[in-house]
Amino acid sequence: MTVYKFDSLTSTNDYMKQNISDFKEYDAVSAVTQSAGKARRGNCWVSQEGMALFTFIVKKKEYFSSDDSEYLKIPLISGLAAIKGLEKSENLNYMFKWTNDVYFEGKKMSGILVEKAEDTFFIGIGININNSLPKELKNKAVSLSDITGKIYDIDKVITDIIEEFKILYKTFTYGKWDEILAEINRLNYLKGKEVSLKAGEERFFGTVQDINYDGEIEIISGNEVHSFSIGEIFEEGISF
Ligand code: BTN
Repeated sequence: MTVYKFDSLTSTNDYMKQNISDFKEYDAVSAVTQSAGKARRGNCWVSQEGMALFTFIVKKKEYFSSDDSEYLKIPLISGLAAIKGLEKSENLNYMFKWTNDVYFEGKKMSGILVEKAEDTFFIGIGININNSLPKELKNKAVSLSDITGKIYDIDKVITDIIEEFKILYKTFTYGKWDEILAEINRLNYLKGKEVSLKAGEERFFGTVQDINYDGEIEIISGNEVHSFSIGEIFEEGISF
């Protein structure tokens, strides 16, 4: 695994996608800043110096079913790898917010954008590490430095996360998804929370249960359990 480091790129995901033939599995590209960082649902990721901003690539395995249902699990595995990697620098009570955010005490610390082209997954991760969040975001996002007052080695955080991903991905391809899922559910930030889920123009209200075997979030409303594979989740009473 090689991490190629840049001062500035438009987006580490885009750079890897455009230069895919230069990279092998688990290689990564990191940037100090990005001028056009991408977030999920076509949103922008505002990149601040001091964040860990990187993308690494993973190949689709024989193990995957042909209908691509395994694709849903890659973001979940990435989120858990981010938590386990971060624990090596600072052991805090990080939580996993479905589908793939890392939260600390109700605030977002990391976002992950997984893209796929042919048999390659591009796992793009942005983490608030040494940056300090602007005032207007301090009620919804947090950095590691904001919490502890320390400065961290961003390169180490990046390699620790990729190493953790490698271990989890191997476990996954050995057919032990249930072990990974149990760990993710232990860290399920949304569990028991009253939420609304937005999927397209539809809004659905209910109380979050576990993430199921297919990687979907289960939400109970009345006596019925509904499962969702996509959607944006809002905690009731909290605006994001
Ligand atoms: C989200 O929270 O919606 C996902 C944000 C992902 C941001 C990271 S920063 C590094 C990588 N390059 C990008 O352009 N995006 C991801």
